[in-house]
Amino acid sequence: MNTVWKRKDLVGIKDLTADEIRLILDTAKSLQEISLRPVKKVPTLRGRTVANLFFEPSTRTRISFELAEKRLSADTISFTGSTSSTVKGETLKDTVRNIESLKVDMIVMRHSASGAPHRLAEALPVSVINAGDGINEHPTQALLDMFTVQEKKGKLAGIKVAFIGDILHSRVARSNIWGLTKLGAKVVVCGPKTLLPPKVESLGVEATTDLEKAIRDADVINLLRIQTERQSECYFPSIREYATSYQINQDVLKHAKPDVLIMHPGPVNRGIELSSDVMDGPYSVILDQVTNGLAVRMAVLYLLSGARKKSENK
Ligand code: CP
Repeated sequence: MNTVWKRKDLVGIKDLTADEIRLILDTAKSLQEISLRPVKKVPTLRGRTVANLFFEPSTRTRISFELAEKRLSADTISFTGSTSSTVKGETLKDTVRNIESLKVDMIVMRHSASGAPHRLAEALPVSVINAGDGINEHPTQALLDMFTVQEKKGKLAGIKVAFIGDILHSRVARSNIWGLTKLGAKVVVCGPKTLLPPKVESLGVEATTDLEKAIRDADVINLLRIQTERQSECYFPSIREYATSYQINQDVLKHAKPDVLIMHPGPVNRGIELSSDVMDGPYSVILDQVTNGLAVRMAVLYLLSGARKKSENK
């Protein structure tokens, strides 16, 4: 592949070409072995500083980025929204301008406002990586999901991926839909009608409220958490009723392919969208997703730092 990475930022999958997505996945594949070495470190980002700004809670994404930065020898600073001066009324832009004054090279940002990383990317010369913005996109999660499917199934083109649950509020589903459809996978989204975005079919996916239909010939079932923190209204009568209709458990899996993969971006509500035995069972690749996230985030940091170096040398 002759694709060269030229973008300063990674704010979403929507804007990427299929070749750019493939470049990230191929780069992640080549970086995967670093984490298997006795000394798990390369000097690629030595002398570079990355700021991790998490204005919303995160476990997986934050520690995965922090570890990826350490593997590449970057200097890092990290803060979470609740411990920053934003709680004293400072604007996001002023907070980030102060951090920029410390001459950081890259910013990894999670924010509850959709579009926040895009605004920073436009306003600042440093590279910005979106670690999840509101209900808009979560690009590195989609990339690690695609990487995992490719690793387990050997390809993405022609693979059918079913997303089950809260599609309406899911930045993970949105980024995956952009990426999977660009790479030739088939996507079906399934959940209560109230949790399916209006006109979601216009994104090139099939939509259904029928769980059995959605999973029948799926190669991958990717489950989404019910996001109570983003729901101001009741979208279904009760959590128990949701679980009765949409939980993936051993009984439901009788309707799925025998080699189906069970994925979940985390955090999982055990016993709601997914039964404990399926979560810990042989179909589940949930922890492989976490492992692969490290290589994918190393690839993104590596590619963006290269693009930035080229623009500095001009
Ligand atoms: N998948 C994901 O974004 O998890 P965290 O919220 O723990 O980062």
